[in-house]
Amino acid sequence: PMAPTGCPVSPRAAAFDPFERPYQLDPAEALRWSREQEPVFYSPRLGYWVVSRYDDIKAIFRDNLTFSPSIALEKITPASAAAQAVLERYDYGMNRTLVNEDEPAHMARRRELLEAFTPEALEAHAPMVRRLVRDKLDAIVDCGRADLVAEMFWEVPLTVALHFLGVPEEDMEQLRRFSVAHTLNTWGRPSPAQQVEVAEGVGKFWQYAGQVLKKMQDQPHGHGWMYDMIAKNRQKPDVVTDNYLHSMMMAIIVAAHETTALATANAFRQLLSRPAVWAELCANPELIPAAAEECLRHSGSVVAWRRIAIRDAEVGGVTIPEGGRILMVTASANHDPAHFENPDELDIYRDNAVDHLTFGYGSHQCMGKNLGRMEMRIFLEEFTRRLPHLELEEQEFTFLPNTSFRGPEALWVRWEPTMNPERRDP
Ligand code: HEM
Repeated sequence: PMAPTGCPVSPRAAAFDPFERPYQLDPAEALRWSREQEPVFYSPRLGYWVVSRYDDIKAIFRDNLTFSPSIALEKITPASAAAQAVLERYDYGMNRTLVNEDEPAHMARRRELLEAFTPEALEAHAPMVRRLVRDKLDAIVDCGRADLVAEMFWEVPLTVALHFLGVPEEDMEQLRRFSVAHTLNTWGRPSPAQQVEVAEGVGKFWQYAGQVLKKMQDQPHGHGWMYDMIAKNRQKPDVVTDNYLHSMMMAIIVAAHETTALATANAFRQLLSRPAVWAELCANPELIPAAAEECLRHSGSVVAWRRIAIRDAEVGGVTIPEGGRILMVTASANHDPAHFENPDELDIYRDNAVDHLTFGYGSHQCMGKNLGRMEMRIFLEEFTRRLPHLELEEQEFTFLPNTSFRGPEALWVRWEPTMNPERRDP
């Protein structure tokens, strides 16, 4: 096989397939060969240029004029005709939000919408997050065994996200199913039969987002980030446009909950599989923020992000032609020994963990990163205090096959309820 530039593709590059098991299990490991030997390569199976080293990925993030984010939410597997017909039936019109908007529109919009993310504004949500985590813990604390993903890791971040956005909390199970459809639709490779089913879910999600938006627009006194957007849409409709509102309504529900849910599950998995580290956190809870950051580096929930070259441009000595689609495997960058010492080790004392690229970098860097961090911190604080003797069960982890969102679909843990500190020391 050949790249669009006419250059031959190496056998490993030809074989690279992010929908297969090695990448799903451990994307950084699956690209070790690339970091070491061929850090920028064309993947004929994907039709993307794959970039795996830290410095190269950071350089792409830094130059968002040459490397446009416009394809960040594009379907990575083009829709079949049948799926396309389903989407059209639902009048599906997902377009630019923030994450896939070019300059200068992006910065003008981002600047208008920053207020909800000030440290004070975020801190105001902390008591709600803690209450939600405590209620969920109360429900299982005497059980001795639980799948934490099913019990709380997706539902708490979803509730927090809806609250943050001001979206009424209804039909959480349905929203969860919509989110999975959106992830598969955008970053997965559904089979032709699955494509139609996924398109149904996405179409319904789009309609639902429109209805919720309309309801919110009719209630001008609500609180939350979506209400900030609705107000800006009234004041500056050319900056915060109508289509933006509808697209964002759908995209942000996923961006604000799926990412955090998966990051929390990854962090618990990593920490509990190292009992000495877990014990250290139980003894010294002030280590929790640094541990959460190191988990985001070591096993982030977003593992790859996309850009498109708007002109011929060089990355790591390779010329990516105009129109070249790029998959930056940030999970691989986070394990690059050129930037992180002993990168495969989970080291909660690492002094540059925060340099990780799990939240992206540069002008589009995640706006919600401190909300996500806060949720992870509170989960860890409550669990280390109330269930310090928690243990990870032997289990085989499964993942939703896709390029970008990663976390175990279930996380089984067990503990001895009679050892709960609140039982021993009520
Ligand atoms: C953008 C990851 C949580 C809202 C992004 C990007 C990534 C990301 C990779 C793209 C960055 C880039 O292109 O440079 C994550 C992870 C999270 C998380 C790993 C949790 C652990 C959240 C939450 C919210 C949120 C809780 C919402 C309240 C956004 C927004 C953008 C964004 C609005 C677009 C920013 C822009 O383009 O200017 N996030 N995110 N994220 N995220 Fe997050």
